[in-house]
Amino acid sequence: MTDPVEQQDYSRLFRLDGRRAVVVGAGSGIGRESALALSAHGADVVCADRDLAAAEGTVALGGGSAAYLLDVTDADAVARASRELDPVDVLVFTAATNVRKRLLDYTTEEFDRVVGLNLRASFDLVRAFGRGMAERGRGSIIGFSSIRSVAVEPGQGVYAATKAGLVQLLRTAAAELGPSGVRVNAIAPGVVDTPLTAQIRANPEWYQAYSSKSALGRWSHAHELAGAVVYLASDASSFVTGSQLFVDGGWTAVDGRYTPPA
Ligand SMILES: NC(=O)c1ccc[n+]([C@@H]2O[C@H](COP(=O)([O-])OP(=O)(O)OC[C@H]3O[C@@H](n4cnc5c(N)ncnc54)[C@H](O)[C@@H]3O)[C@@H](O)[C@H]2O)c1
Repeated sequence: MTDPVEQQDYSRLFRLDGRRAVVVGAGSGIGRESALALSAHGADVVCADRDLAAAEGTVALGGGSAAYLLDVTDADAVARASRELDPVDVLVFTAATNVRKRLLDYTTEEFDRVVGLNLRASFDLVRAFGRGMAERGRGSIIGFSSIRSVAVEPGQGVYAATKAGLVQLLRTAAAELGPSGVRVNAIAPGVVDTPLTAQIRANPEWYQAYSSKSALGRWSHAHELAGAVVYLASDASSFVTGSQLFVDGGWTAVDGRYTPPA
């Protein structure tokens, strides 16, 4: 005989009451909207960013209870944050950078800067916050990859490599921390209207080409990533780990070179 199925209260499926979330990169773009959405679902959110005033701006909008100054390229500061903010149930990290340049033109300094923030700092965050989560037997870690983790174009080589690397890092963390009750997932946005993509929006041809690539025929707004964050943070995704959730308007589903007359 199997155990009786427990009656679920689906009205609370996405609620995060009583949970502490740390959003790194909460001062801008997707991180800010993530903090606002997690807060709206009941989480106690700490808004971390290297730009403290920006993080405070998110708190002022209702995105959390505290702002926290953190430069994630400083490994000691990341370790200190994990101790000072303990216990953390949900870690979301969005901080990343891009230098759009062809490989032959890339400098070693640029390579180190992009890898240092996008990959190395992500590694430090997962290690620092994952340890406490594993000890407590629960937690959800959410990192931001990109459509560039699977589809590239000239000028995106190093960024794409960091995002593909991040996905494999998070999958491995899912494998290693899963037995301790910690889930680890990636969200892959398409093109989102944030400061990170200001260079593209400043060029009408580039902007338009990206609009028409996705199935939905437009860019997304940062707030359209918030649902995926709340989902992966909450018990609505209690059996989801090691996954990459594409929130890309169908960018990676559609070839897009040509619409046949059929
Ligand atoms: N915007 C897009 O079109 C897009 C597309 C695909 C993937 N993504 C990914 O989504 C994530 C969020 O992007 P966004 O567009 O919201 O970026 P954003 O530039 O708007 O925000 C990034 C935030 O991170 C903070 N930050 C930067 N360096 C930091 C550091 N060293 N320590 C702490 N905080 C730091 C910044 O101050 C800023 O508040 C990134 O990982 C990005 O690669 C974005």
